[in-house]
Amino acid sequence: MRVRGAPLIGVAAAYGVSLALRADPSDASLGAALVTLGATRPTAVNLRWALERMAGVLRPAAPADRAGRAYAEAAAMAEEDVDVCRRLGEHGERLLQGAWEAAGGDRPLNVLTHCNAGWLATVDWGTALAPVYRAHEAGMPVHVWVDETRPRNQGLLTAWELAQHGVPHTVVVDNAGGLLMRRGQVDLCLVGTDRTTRAGEVANKIGTYLKALAARDNRVPFYVAAPSSSIDWTLADGAAIPIEERDRAELGYDPAVPAINPAFDVTPASLVTALVTERGVCEASEAGLRRLFPEE
Ligand code: MRU
Repeated sequence: MRVRGAPLIGVAAAYGVSLALRADPSDASLGAALVTLGATRPTAVNLRWALERMAGVLRPAAPADRAGRAYAEAAAMAEEDVDVCRRLGEHGERLLQGAWEAAGGDRPLNVLTHCNAGWLATVDWGTALAPVYRAHEAGMPVHVWVDETRPRNQGLLTAWELAQHGVPHTVVVDNAGGLLMRRGQVDLCLVGTDRTTRAGEVANKIGTYLKALAARDNRVPFYVAAPSSSIDWTLADGAAIPIEERDRAELGYDPAVPAINPAFDVTPASLVTALVTERGVCEASEAGLRRLFPEE
């Protein structure tokens, strides 16, 4: 958890491979680094995506060349992540602009987000927060409801980021979203994703699914910012996504209290209004994703 957030986990792991090869560029060292780093977090598919890309470049390379090539590939990945998030932000900004105009354009747009999907979770910009930053910089009044995101409180990272940019925001406990939506205080939800299946099912921080259910009941659009590095083309069914079970000590209860601590949940595609990717906005479905990513 020193490094967290799906895109950042992937890029940091790529640099991790580069460090391992600087110490020892042998096949055995490469294999061990891939296995060790690959076992750190199970849900964010960006980790597998990054390690497979590193393995593809490094396995055929001569050991003497590996450290340099690994660093170059990790650096390329970092630069690409910035570009992907910037482009995702452009597409998402148009959605926010449309929602603001549809709401009359005479008051701030209220966006609810969960967890932290900003620049602390990526190399720069963020995923779900990139459209917010762009809209804010373009002069659109926007206010963000920030879910606290128990038990690790990643919402406080989001609040800190938004404060750095001067974006108005309010932290709420995780269970407040339903009340806010019923009161008409949320115009749209915008969250990140750790793994989106090719059918548009979305694994994200625990509690995301409940927000999507509340959003559907209140006719609040529910958008997911999904860079291509977070799309798992090998899976259609969200139930097959491995859900990280974290130490119950994070919950802060007496050890005698029976408790579990699953860190992610899966939101079905039917509850997702649209996916926002670096190539545009699409329906949360296999057809929608394949239209934007035909090469997959
Ligand atoms: O456990 P974390 O903090 O790594 O979980 C992060 C999230 O759930 C984010 O919403 C997700 O990675 C998208 S970040 C761009």
